[in-house]
Amino acid sequence: MSSKPKDNKTPPETGLRKGLTSYGDKGFSLFLRKAFIKGAGYTNSALDRPVIGIINTGSAYNPCHGNMPQLLEAVKRGVMLAGGLSMEFPTISIHESFAAPTSMYLRNLMSMDTEEMLRAQPMDAVVMIGGCDKTVPAQMMGAASAGLPAIQLITGSMLTGSHRSERVGACTDCRRYWGKFRAGEIDETEKDEVNDQLVASVGTCSVMGTASTMACISEALGMTVPGGATPPAVTADRIRVAEETGACAVQMAKEGLTIDKILTADAFENAMRVLLAIGGSTNGIVHLAAIAGRMGLEIDLDALDKMGNETPVLVDLKPSGDHYMENFHDAGGMTTLLRELKPLLKLNTMTVTGRTLGEEIDAGPPSFKQDVVRKIDNPIYPRGSIAVLHGNLAPGGAIIKQSAANEKLMEHEGRAVVFENSEDLANRIDSPDLDVSADDIIVLKNIGPKGAPGMPEAGYIPIPMKLARAGVKDIVRISDGRMSGTAFGTIVLHVTPESAIGGPLAYVRNGDRIRLSVQNREISLLISDEELAKRANENPITPPTAERGYKKLFLDTVTQADKGVDFDFLRAAKMVGKTPSK
Ligand code: FES
Repeated sequence: MSSKPKDNKTPPETGLRKGLTSYGDKGFSLFLRKAFIKGAGYTNSALDRPVIGIINTGSAYNPCHGNMPQLLEAVKRGVMLAGGLSMEFPTISIHESFAAPTSMYLRNLMSMDTEEMLRAQPMDAVVMIGGCDKTVPAQMMGAASAGLPAIQLITGSMLTGSHRSERVGACTDCRRYWGKFRAGEIDETEKDEVNDQLVASVGTCSVMGTASTMACISEALGMTVPGGATPPAVTADRIRVAEETGACAVQMAKEGLTIDKILTADAFENAMRVLLAIGGSTNGIVHLAAIAGRMGLEIDLDALDKMGNETPVLVDLKPSGDHYMENFHDAGGMTTLLRELKPLLKLNTMTVTGRTLGEEIDAGPPSFKQDVVRKIDNPIYPRGSIAVLHGNLAPGGAIIKQSAANEKLMEHEGRAVVFENSEDLANRIDSPDLDVSADDIIVLKNIGPKGAPGMPEAGYIPIPMKLARAGVKDIVRISDGRMSGTAFGTIVLHVTPESAIGGPLAYVRNGDRIRLSVQNREISLLISDEELAKRANENPITPPTAERGYKKLFLDTVTQADKGVDFDFLRAAKMVGKTPSK
């Protein structure tokens, strides 16, 4: 069991020898480290193996990660079978509905936690277990900056439930039933009844929300084992993926397959393609911009818009379609989708297996008849799900999820009904005295990256009670915030620059006319440049700051939506290009 070197050469800095604590004497640092770890009963033989860190994001506050114990056990088994030594450690965990003021406010903190723990602790590769919306992007952002071999393991989607014989799942159906309750279509008793059924097991939201979007994007980026995106949380398939992930991490460690070899401009292009084809969450763009920014790459939003012309929505999942994640998995998951998209993909990108995406697509199981992933000539929506808008209201761009919008409202001009912030909205949206009609455009300010802060998913502005009760199901809504990927409606989001730093949105007044033309990619405030400048001069905006702590760091350094809402000092020191790279 001796670990004495056989010659006088300095041993390579791998395993426990990596990143030694600074005591001024490297030999002593390693001696001390080994003494402590041996206190936990490890042998020299175990300690000489490649060390695979495993990030445990289990938390009682995070039911989307409720299968963490089973996943950890399976990953460790995979590591052990492949000859590695697993070292589990915790980081922050974030759940959408247990994070105030909003989970996005904490995503960068989780990315910093991830990055610094990967740097500080000795490991040759890391398995990052995440699932709930912000956790996967946070982990990839951190790993991208830390630079070591890293592989993503998704916790997997929840099962769907049943309410009075109707299949339901979080969170598109949460919003739908809440809308019914607000409209007086269901009573208090039924509201409570359906509440029991919307989340039928542990795991992430069962529709194409942000969690499912990021799972699919992870596989498209090459960051998961093939088939790693779609198995539901409580299935044997998910556990098998976990075991494979552990084994794959050992191989990555041995081969030195670092994350920069995987997260290339072409890999991000593939991810953008997949985002469009799955009808993915608009949050996916923000997260992709943040991850790419860590690698020194800017996401070209106008190129994304153009890609939409040749990338129809193929995956028939709520909220753009009808099915749930478990159906997508039964239909072959990402293998089926990637095979269909193959002519549009960059096939030479590297994946965690050490094989290219093209090789993995060719090695996938044979196709079979299914009705969730459509053929490219029979899409569920003829264009990409997301359109990028410009105009004097959003000089830095805005987006709309056109596949989840109302066709009749996508070319619309209307009168602005303005809310200054979330509180103003909460106070007045349901007032019987609110001067609003179905043809108006609701504008909500101050829910951008600095405004709220944290760019909450408050862009899904509720239909005013008086309109909802009159049967109005959709109305054009505009904000500088985000919306959940599980939401739907004609909703313009991510208006950049945001109102809290003096973007034009700040100067919209009640009664102004606004024009939305998705066809022309336009979002315009119909006032003259002179009038806009006059309003800005009369009411200069002071961006918010804070006295101390994380909030101060956040408000002083957070970037706008087009830069991924990352902190400016966390992005790569030097930007090296754009993606797609042409
Ligand atoms: Fe965790 Fe939806 S709340 S994925």
